[in-house]
Amino acid sequence: MTEFAEIGSGRGAAFVVTTPAGLEPEARRELRRLLPGAGTRPLPLKGNILLLTDTDEAEAVALLAAAETLHVSRVVPVQRRVRASTDVACFPEIAQAAAGIGRIEAGQRFLVRCDRRGRHAWQSRDLERAVAGELERLTEGVGDYLAQPEWLVRVEVYQDAAFVGVNSPANVLRKKLHRQRKYAPGQRPLNRAQWKIREALAAFHIEIEAEARVLDLGSAPGGWAAVLAEAAREVVAVDPADLDAQVAALPNVRHMQCTAAEAAAQEVLVGPFDLVTCDMNVDPGEAADAMCDLAPLLKPEAPAIMTVKYVTRQRRRHEQEARRRLSEQFEQVRFRRLPHNRLETTAGMLRRRSVEGATN
Ligand SMILES: C[S@@+](CC[C@H](N)C(=O)[O-])C[C@H]1O[C@@H](n2cnc3c(N)ncnc32)[C@H](O)[C@@H]1O
Repeated sequence: MTEFAEIGSGRGAAFVVTTPAGLEPEARRELRRLLPGAGTRPLPLKGNILLLTDTDEAEAVALLAAAETLHVSRVVPVQRRVRASTDVACFPEIAQAAAGIGRIEAGQRFLVRCDRRGRHAWQSRDLERAVAGELERLTEGVGDYLAQPEWLVRVEVYQDAAFVGVNSPANVLRKKLHRQRKYAPGQRPLNRAQWKIREALAAFHIEIEAEARVLDLGSAPGGWAAVLAEAAREVVAVDPADLDAQVAALPNVRHMQCTAAEAAAQEVLVGPFDLVTCDMNVDPGEAADAMCDLAPLLKPEAPAIMTVKYVTRQRRRHEQEARRRLSEQFEQVRFRRLPHNRLETTAGMLRRRSVEGATN
């Protein structure tokens, strides 16, 4: 696979590719599928990728031009990489790089276009003018402003790196984007936590009835609460931190801005609840104790979900400790590592049928 330093070695090809911000992983997969063995490197701006392939440039361009792509917007073949300076000192080197590509011949017309990302003491226009003048001198070509010159000189600047491409205009591809956004309008999850609670509800076969009341401990910013509120009549969200404004505004979400222990001591917190969830980022033993303290507010045999955070590397010890403490008030405690669990696992359980102190 071609590496940065090898751009300009004459082997393979390199391309600056633009893609919708946030869809870079999908674009990278798409590009690698089209050009097996190709590599991609992130560029220092969202939605920008450097594509490197051992495939010959003309062949790769033809392939990319013909392919039905979903996430690829613009493809610029680049043949040189040079240093871009914050001042104009880099202009002659960029012109020399463009001339060194060896495509512009005496009398041929070319157009210089620059896309600048970063902070520089010059504008793209300054570079275009200076490089065009220098290129005329170096190649005896004719700098032009024609829409269709013989050569399009593209300078793609990312702060201190300038990628230079001299191409036939037809080889600079503009492709139709079929997917511009990761999520449909209104579907963007508040955070990864929203996936976790959906996965946990499915994994433990928990259905939330329309009349259900849910107690959610460690609720902020409110990903779980928002998902739970889609189905439940009421979600009591307990967290000393602020809820996201959109979640706080949901008519069936009530925020108790305090710790779980403080909530347990408040008379306004009354059961019965049909489900208790807990995603507090505390030691699993502490979370389990909070669940047990509040268990009397949960209906007998009602389900509960708690994430077990691996606060140390002793994962099994954390699970055992959580199980031991939860067993005081819950039964059928099961652990599942869900796709959106990173440094944690999720416990599903049922409130014991007969326990002292139930308030329902
Ligand atoms: C991982 S975040 C929860 C994310 C949440 N489930 C969501 O979907 O947005 C953990 C939360 O636990 C809260 N927390 C930590 N200790 C707590 C306690 N003793 N009582 C209540 N909340 C607590 C933190 O303030 C933090 O907001």
